[in-house]
Order: sequence, then C-alpha cells, then structure tokens
Amino acid sequence: MNKTTKSLADFIVKSPTAFHAVDVMKSRLEKEGFTELLENKEWELKKGGKYFVKRNDSSIISFKLPKAEYKGFYIIASHSDSPAFKIKENPEMEAAGAYVTLNVEKYGGMLCAPWFDRPLSVAGRVLVKTGNKNDISAESRLVNIDKDLVMIPSLAIHMNREANDGYKYNAQKDLIPIFGDEKSKDGFMKAVAEAAGTKVENIVSHDLFLYNRVAPTVWGAADEYVSAGRLDDLECAFGSFEGFLGAENKSNVIMHVVFDNEEVGSSTKQGAASTFLKDTLLRINEGFKRNTEQYLMSLAESFMVSADNAHAIHPNYTEKADPVNRPVMNKGVVIKYNANQKYTTDATSAAVCKLVCDKAKVPYQTFTNRSDVAGGSTLGNISGNQVAIPTVDIGMAQLAMHSPYETAGVADLDYLIKFSKTFYSSDIAVR
Ligand code: CO
Repeated sequence: MNKTTKSLADFIVKSPTAFHAVDVMKSRLEKEGFTELLENKEWELKKGGKYFVKRNDSSIISFKLPKAEYKGFYIIASHSDSPAFKIKENPEMEAAGAYVTLNVEKYGGMLCAPWFDRPLSVAGRVLVKTGNKNDISAESRLVNIDKDLVMIPSLAIHMNREANDGYKYNAQKDLIPIFGDEKSKDGFMKAVAEAAGTKVENIVSHDLFLYNRVAPTVWGAADEYVSAGRLDDLECAFGSFEGFLGAENKSNVIMHVVFDNEEVGSSTKQGAASTFLKDTLLRINEGFKRNTEQYLMSLAESFMVSADNAHAIHPNYTEKADPVNRPVMNKGVVIKYNANQKYTTDATSAAVCKLVCDKAKVPYQTFTNRSDVAGGSTLGNISGNQVAIPTVDIGMAQLAMHSPYETAGVADLDYLIKFSKTFYSSDIAVR
C-alpha cells in the first residue's frame, strides 16, 4: 500500500460510523491548529484564522479565512454516512433457545448479500447520564466494540436449492445477526457499556450500527485497486480533506464540508438539506461585519464541488453503462451529468471543473446514466436549496457501490487530493 492509500485505509478503519469519521477529522484539525466553534456560543473570527464546527457530532464544516477581505466561498462537500444496519431499541432477541440475535433495521439502500458470512461489529454513540439524579443532563460518547462480534450466517444451499437463482431478502428475517449463544442473554448492552467506559444503567439512549470488519486491502496485477468498507463516501471526504489542509487561500474562504444522512435523503438537521452550511456562511458574514447585500455578493462569487463517488464500468455488466460516458478506475475525476439536474453539473460548472483538472494535471472523465435508467442522486442539488451557488457534481470511479466492501482505483485518490488542493488555491473567473 502506498502512503496515501494507507492513510485512507487508516481513516476508514477508524471511522466505522459517521460519528467516528467526524471525530477523526476533528482530531486532525486540532493538530493542524484549527479552533473549534460551537453553535451555541458566540463566534469570534479572526482574519487568517482556521476553524471548524460540528452538528450532531456527525456532520462537520471546517474553513480557513483569508488574511484580507474575502470574495467568495470555495466549498467541497461530501458525506460521512454509509448504508448499514442500525441496532433497534431493545435489541436482543431469543432464537431457537440456543442463540441471542440482534434486532436491526436497514439504514440506506445497501446491497444485502455481501453482509453475510463475514465478521461484523458494532459502533456508534451512546448518551451517558451525567450530573445528579434529577438532572436532565447527559453526554454523548463514541463507542466501537473493536472486535469480531456478530455474524449474519447464510442458509445452507441444501436448505434452499434456489439460493443462486436470485433471492429477495426480508429485513426482519434474513438479515438478523447472531450475537452469541443462549448464555449471552443481557450481554449486548453490557458489551456496549464496557466499550463506552460506563455501566449499562448509565446509558440513556444509543445510535449504534453494524459495520464490516474486513480490513482494507490493495490488490490487482499491479496493485491498482483498493477495497474497503465505506469508500462511498469516505474516499471523497478524505481526499478533499487532504487537499483542503494543504491548500492556501488567497482571496476566498475555503471550506471542507461533510454532511451526514446523504444515504437517507439528507433531510435531517445535519444533512445537506439542512441549514448547517447556510448558518455557517451567515456567521462568517457576520464575523466580517458584512451586510446582507455583501453576503449575497459573496455567494455569487462562490463555487461548490459536490464530491460523491461514481460508478465505474463493470466488466460483467457493460450493458448497464451509458454507451459513451463510462468511467473507469484510475482515470481521474468523474464529472457527473444528469439532464434532470439530480447532478448539478451544467456547462458553466463543468468548465470550472475541467479547467481546475487541467491546472492540477489531473485527468477527468464523464458519467451519465443510460437514458433508460433512473440512477441515484447526491448532495449537490439538495444543498443548493439552502445555499444556491454554482456547483459541479464529481466523484471517483468505484465498483460495488453500497456493498460493505467496495472497490476503487489507487491512483484516483492522489488525483482527488491534487484536484482539491488546486481548486481551493485558485481564483475562478468563469462567467
Ligand atoms: Co455516496
């Protein structure tokens, strides 16, 4: 594994959930001299300062202010969440008098089959009671039961001879993981409490998810592919973050934005449809003692890159791709187009993106769905409803999107970092 791929792999392993991804970025930002801003406290911004703000501990915006007055906001946005199974309330269930299983439900639109027959574990956050008996006070704590803990076993072929002829998974029957044998009763929340460094009775509530334990790996004839969980969209979050940290901002506020809940439509208080970005922009505007007109002027000078991974052409299903616009891994930034504007790219924003790629010496390619396929959506057009600025949708090409073990191109990570750094460090004049 080369150095950048290793850093991405470390980031992914340390980020089993959106909460962890945000926490890893927070630590890095603090190390790099960024100051945390709290949404419930006044902000004192200084020109040339570096700051970050979190919402729900699962979305994070970091930004660097220029030393002089700024023109606009240059933003790269990605998402922290990935499809997974969420642990339901009262999770333990008894099965066959011989097992304790966990009651889970789907978060996002995942491929189900690859969750079977592999070690899984549990991570997320718990709210731990603080203060005295009648105080309404609790604090959030990250949890990662960092061991092979649960498994969703397949049914043997002998008991379903049609298993290889296509199968419709029932989320309440087929996808229930085993936690332990009958002696493990009442042990699940104990394991969670232990990982959180507290007692079961102190845990008031939880947001916990299953995650895949298979370690990231590099493979292929020339080590050209990297496989890992959550490449969608931690590859974009990580690559744009590296570019952001390495960039110099001359006349713009540069911002790295990571939203939660993209996989479930973004309509949460911390999602791309929320006011999180807008509120942050308004507070920066206030901090510079600018009026409303100046705010609107700065938006008109701004640009956003919505970065979420793209589908590489699949060797076994070439008929699923557009006849012409078929991205491949290790061939650079994928610019995504959709006539119905599920992707925000238009001629203007594509021009910006292509010119940034040229300047960065990063190749680019294009993605469109086949005209008879609906395709997915992402965060750019959703965020645009709160903060309307020119936006391009990009991603890095990958296979097996929404599997718990996805595949991308090793070279593309470096391309993304170079692209991001160049974007943040440039002045854009495309009208
Ligand atoms: Co995504």
